[in-house]
Amino acid sequence: MTSDRGAVRISPDVTMLMSAAADLFVAVTQEAIAARGRADIALTGGSAPPALHRLLATPGYSSQIVWPQVHIWFGDDRCVKADDPLSNFGAANQDLLSHVPLPLANIHRIQGELSRDDAAQYYAQELRKQLGDAPRLDLIWLGLGPDGHVASLFPGEATLHITDKLVVGVAHTTAGPEPLVDRVTMTLPVLNNAARVAFLITGEKKAAITAKVLEDVPANPDDRLPSQRVQPTNGQLLWLLDMAAAGDLHQ
Ligand code: 6PG
Repeated sequence: MTSDRGAVRISPDVTMLMSAAADLFVAVTQEAIAARGRADIALTGGSAPPALHRLLATPGYSSQIVWPQVHIWFGDDRCVKADDPLSNFGAANQDLLSHVPLPLANIHRIQGELSRDDAAQYYAQELRKQLGDAPRLDLIWLGLGPDGHVASLFPGEATLHITDKLVVGVAHTTAGPEPLVDRVTMTLPVLNNAARVAFLITGEKKAAITAKVLEDVPANPDDRLPSQRVQPTNGQLLWLLDMAAAGDLHQ
């Protein structure tokens, strides 16, 4: 199904969803490596990605990927040490990165042990060094927060209006969201400059917000949720859902 919100692909269950996501990961890496000798892919945090990461680490999928030509980035991370249970890098490393022949130089981690602003500055520098002043990743994975946030771009925040920075630090507030830690996130210009952005959404708990994001898009852009502002300017937007997450969709 293709809406003006991108292509929606619904899998019967979470197992089939993760297979579809892993197939996309393989296809994008093979296409990018064939075209320009490398593939730059950003992972995300949240409850959905670990199953995908573990599947990609299995021989059946891992053997299809030329890891030495893959570069791994993170759409956001928390300002915690790499071995902290809250670290998006730490989770991806545990489930995938430490199991595949990926050169350490190809893992571009947000240095969560630094202050949010220093980590953001260094990450932006790394993006520019690797991909230039207008970095265009081949694929950026995103989750969908219960409030419609993506990466660490939250509703009503000034970060949604940033156009002159690639990466920003996000101060935590006592109002949430959990976990109450500072974060670092790619900004919308980077997300929307990607060749592909893929949302990976599973479970009935996300059915309502998924339907809202896809089917209730405010005419005024200023009223749109962060996830509704992800619209690649010259790229593909994909929504990979299982039936549970798609349960409230009307078309
Ligand atoms: C993070 C993620 C965040 C996540 C969504 C969905 O650092 O928390 O980048 O954007 O993808 O919050 O996560 P859940 O599926 O766990 O709700």
